[in-house]
Parts: sequence; structure tokens; C-alpha cells
Amino acid sequence: MSRTFELESFRDCEAALRNINLKQALYDAGKVVMDGVLLTLHGAAHSERRAVEVRVFRRNFFRHYEKTVFPATLAETLRPFVAAGRADLIELGYRATANLTADFAGIDRPERTVEETELLIRLVKKFSEGATMVHSTRDKVELEGEVLDALAVFDKRFNQPSVARRRELLADPQTPSEALPRDVLTVILQAGDELDMDGAALNREMAFYMQAGAHSTANAVVHSVHEILLWANDDAERWARLADPVFVQRCVHESLRLHPASPQAWRSGTCPMHVAGAGEIAAGDKVVLDLFTANRDRDLFGEGADRFDPDRTMPANMLPSGLTFGIGLHTCLGRELDGGVPVKPGSDPATHQYGIVALLVIALLELGARLNPADPPTPDPKTSRPNWGRYPIIFTKV
Ligand code: HEM
Repeated sequence: MSRTFELESFRDCEAALRNINLKQALYDAGKVVMDGVLLTLHGAAHSERRAVEVRVFRRNFFRHYEKTVFPATLAETLRPFVAAGRADLIELGYRATANLTADFAGIDRPERTVEETELLIRLVKKFSEGATMVHSTRDKVELEGEVLDALAVFDKRFNQPSVARRRELLADPQTPSEALPRDVLTVILQAGDELDMDGAALNREMAFYMQAGAHSTANAVVHSVHEILLWANDDAERWARLADPVFVQRCVHESLRLHPASPQAWRSGTCPMHVAGAGEIAAGDKVVLDLFTANRDRDLFGEGADRFDPDRTMPANMLPSGLTFGIGLHTCLGRELDGGVPVKPGSDPATHQYGIVALLVIALLELGARLNPADPPTPDPKTSRPNWGRYPIIFTKV
């Protein structure tokens, strides 16, 4: 019988994430959408796929995306909400990030209409629900059926046309390399037989990218705004500090530390071994890494570990977001895209890479985003994860 061990300390969780003899186990219940995708592969199959897909995730491209592509997407996304003077932050976050993630994954949106984006978001939310089935409070069989239906719609409406357009470009010897889209789908198709992926596997990989990027980014925006609004409250001095984009990025990193996208990571042993914090484990034993608690480890972050404190000094050699983007084999490929680069003394605020989450929060603060007193936020009832279901805000500076 396999056993389950729990790790709570930061250092134990960090070591387990880096341990190549522990494999991904969180998505076993969410196989319907997660089977054979990058995040659930292990060993050689994982390194081969990651080596291909990582080609899209380069710092110079993130900088280009942040400075030249994203501002237009952001302005377009914000326009109707600003006109209305209010927004549901979750809806706004999804609208901004679904397009961003689709660009990186390689999912075309030929119509460029609100309806098309809304359909994509509905599908992506269903994939997220499917991937995190293990934490779902819903009937599992019913949910699995809905996820399969969503995968079929996604394949027909988005994945297959995107694959066909790229195959055509790749087959034409006249296509200059700079005319090829820079996205995960293109590099997978270019790799061809190097990666053993059939149509269904490709569809799941694209669905995984869509949900991995959009869901966690949208949640990170909501948590960050929430923490900032509570922290600043009616303190004029704190509000003045929030006019500095570098400080807002620091706030976002602190919020990311407190609210990891996935509060737990699960791994299982591939052979007998010693795991710090668990002791001797056998092949098949499960190790639950409590990232939520690890990121608030008092031994490292002191007595105020649970507190949102953007002025805290982080322990040396640690990302300001702690383990929120993972570490080791499955480290998040979107980390610098979303979190940017931590500021260093002498960084130029004009060219600094802030990350998409901070850029969204900076824009919202500039618009005077505040809680809507008549309509308080409510938690998401469909999951045991600590996510918001609705987060109504008003804009006080439009
Ligand atoms: C705030 C936003 C995000 C957070 C907190 C986040 C968090 C994570 C975490 C914790 C993992 C590792 C899970 C594990 O070890 O079990 C991961 C993996 C991954 N993330 Fe993210 N992510 C974010 C945004 C994104 C974005 C925008 C993209 C793509 C555009 C992305 C793509 C990926 C991919 C491809 C992996 C799998 C890497 C692998 O298995 O080798 N993520 N992410």
C-alpha cells in the first residue's frame, strides 16, 4: 500500500521539487485534459518536450512582448470596463490574459470578436476545472463529460485551424523564417517526429497552455489587487508609494508569495529514496508539498510570515515570489513573462521588465480601482482552493 507524506518547510519543498526521482502526481485525477502534457511528463519525455517548447520563452521576447504587444492588448481589454466605470476583476483578468496566453501557445483567434474571446475563456475555465479536478467540489463524472465536450469544441474551433495555418506556412519553402509565428504550436510542428504527439495530444497540450497561463495570471492579478487595497486602505502615504511602478511590482511579488497559484504540488516516488522532511519513501508513495505553508515558513520569513509586507527583506538567493512559480524540473516557463525580473539597484524604470501581472495591476491602480462597497467580493464555491469567484471593482479616476 502506498503512503502519503506531507512537506511544509520551504527548504524541504524546494528540495523535493528539484528531486528528479519524484514525478508529477497532482493531475492524475485531471487526466481528461492533462494526460501527456508537458507538466505531467517525466524523465526523457519531459526533457525532450521542454527543450523544444522553451525556445519560445526567451527573455528578449518577453521584453518585446511587454513593451510593444501587450500595451495595445491591455488598452483594448480595459476600454469597455473603463467606459462602464466598473468591472469584475476576474472577468477582466481572464480577458486580458486569455489573449496573451493564446499568443504564446499559438492559438489563432481569426474573428477577433468579443464573442470569440468569450468562447475561448469559457473553454479555458472548463479546462482549469478539469485539470484541478482533485480539488473540485463537483460531481467528477459530470465534470469529466463537460471537459471532453469543451476539448472537442476547442479542437474544431481553435486548435485544428491553428495547426492547419502553421503547417501550410511550414510546408511553403518561400516562407521566410521571420514570417513564422513565434509560439509553442509552431515549434512543436517544426520538431515533427522528434516529439511523438498525435492530434489529440496536441489538442490537450494547447488546452493545457491556455489554462496554465490564463487561469494563474488572472488569479494572481485579483490576489495582488486585493492585498494592495487592504494594505493601503486610507493611508495617503501608502497610496503615494503605489504611484511607483517598481514598488507595485514588489507588491505583486509579495502577493504571489502569499498566494501560490496551486497551494499544493504533489509528487510520487519513482524508486525507494530518502526525502528530507518525509524520511525513507518507496516507489509509488505520494509526497504532498504544501507550498502555501512553505511560502509562509516562519524559520525563513520570521513571525510576520503571513503578513503582506512589501518592505520585507527576502532571504538571500530566493525569488521574491518564493516557490509560487515552482522550481527544478517543472519550473514555470511563464515566470518572467508574468512576474518580470526582480528589480536590482540601478535598474532603469523605463526599460525594466515588470511582468504582465504587475502591468495589469499598475494600470488598474492608475484608473483608481477600488472595491465596490455595494457589491463585496465572494469566494469561488466550485473549488476548495482559496480563489475568488467574483471580485467587483469600481474605477474612481476615469
Ligand atoms: C502568475 C502566473 C503563473 C503562476 C503562479 C504559475 C505557476 C506555475 C507552477 C507552480 C508550475 C510548476 C508546477 C509543478 O511543479 O507541479 C508551472 C508550470 C508551468 N507553467 Fe506556469 N504559472 C504562471 C503563468 C504561466 C504562463 C503565463 C505560462 C505560459 C504562457 C505558463 C506556463 C507554464 C508551463 C508550460 C509549465 C510547465 C513546465 C514544465 O512542466 O516543464 N505559466 N507554472
